[in-house]
Amino acid sequence: MLFDGLKPQAPDALLALIGMFAADPREGKIDLGVGVYRDETGATPVFRAVKAAEAKLVETQSSKSYLGPEGDIRFTELLKPIVFGAGADTSSIVGVQTPGGTGALRLAAELIASAKPKATIWLGTPTWPNHPPTFSSAGLTLATYRYFDQAAQHIRFDEMMDALNRAETGDVVLLHGCCHNPTGANLTSAQWAEVAAIVGKRGLLPLVDLAYQGLGGGLDEDSAGLRMVMEAAEDVIIAYSCDKNFGLYRDRVGALYVRAKQKARAELILSNMLALARPNWSMPPDHGAAVVRTILEDAALTADWRAELTSMRERITTVREALAAGDSNFLAPIAQQQGMFSLLPISAEQVATLRKDHAVYMAGSGRANLAGLTLKTVPKFIEALKAVR
Ligand code: LMR
Repeated sequence: MLFDGLKPQAPDALLALIGMFAADPREGKIDLGVGVYRDETGATPVFRAVKAAEAKLVETQSSKSYLGPEGDIRFTELLKPIVFGAGADTSSIVGVQTPGGTGALRLAAELIASAKPKATIWLGTPTWPNHPPTFSSAGLTLATYRYFDQAAQHIRFDEMMDALNRAETGDVVLLHGCCHNPTGANLTSAQWAEVAAIVGKRGLLPLVDLAYQGLGGGLDEDSAGLRMVMEAAEDVIIAYSCDKNFGLYRDRVGALYVRAKQKARAELILSNMLALARPNWSMPPDHGAAVVRTILEDAALTADWRAELTSMRERITTVREALAAGDSNFLAPIAQQQGMFSLLPISAEQVATLRKDHAVYMAGSGRANLAGLTLKTVPKFIEALKAVR
């Protein structure tokens, strides 16, 4: 039979943690697995502005008729000043709504493959585990370089620059816009400037994955690197996610933007994005994007969203500082890193022991979602880490 040819597939290791954690009956268990924000009570609440926008939508939405493969155009337009800057010239930026950031990455991969089958995409390792299969399953050729030294906890910037110098004109370069996943180690402003310069000089195509804007240094700070690359490069692809910074995870809210230097090329690219979206998901799910649009159309809701995002970011910073202060040797680098994640210098065996003996759940790579900690649980986590080292 046809399906006899299939090979069994292991469940996604990261997503499997959700079920494992839920099934653990131990009191005081700590979830540092999948990347969702948690508050000081351990909850992942719906944003106040999202609740208000949802209520408004229920009241005012008069139809659920189709919108088309581009999704909610007002949503992609209203996000532009947040992503690209308040005064930015966005006349040659085209965008479509996608099902989450993953949908944006997948559409980007297919767009690249349509223009150049088997095009090479450069990935710094480690990267988000879903990046390689998303690109390779669309037919792209993966090339890698070492981005981060897990033991020494620093970026291997020389290796990154060496790779970008070896890349050929037209190769795609994946860049994490902010809050690097899984390491939390982001390029400095000076390093972004060097990356932008080489991308421009060598005619590389940056694909910037911006999935955590606002959770690192602030909304503008977190897209400063992207904006530098946009100055230097001919064309730039941006895969955007609202899943984390609006807390809309399961509603799957994202966008794919392309900035082309020439307006005519931007229109050509848009027509291809729409043609590729159609056989994938036909039209993106509306609700989450309609919520974001409703917030961004309303000054008071936008201000409240920004305030709540700021308090989330500040809480993560507080946890990072408490960790670094609590074990100033081993955990010191955590205070310099940003966003939800850090990649701890521990082995897969140590991660397994943390789970078995201490009910602490994190990815086998050593990635910890620090938003899963509170000032109350930090000491327990530090003790557990000491016990397995
Ligand atoms: C994560 O890295 O934990 C998140 O982006 C969730 C996911 O889809 O993997």
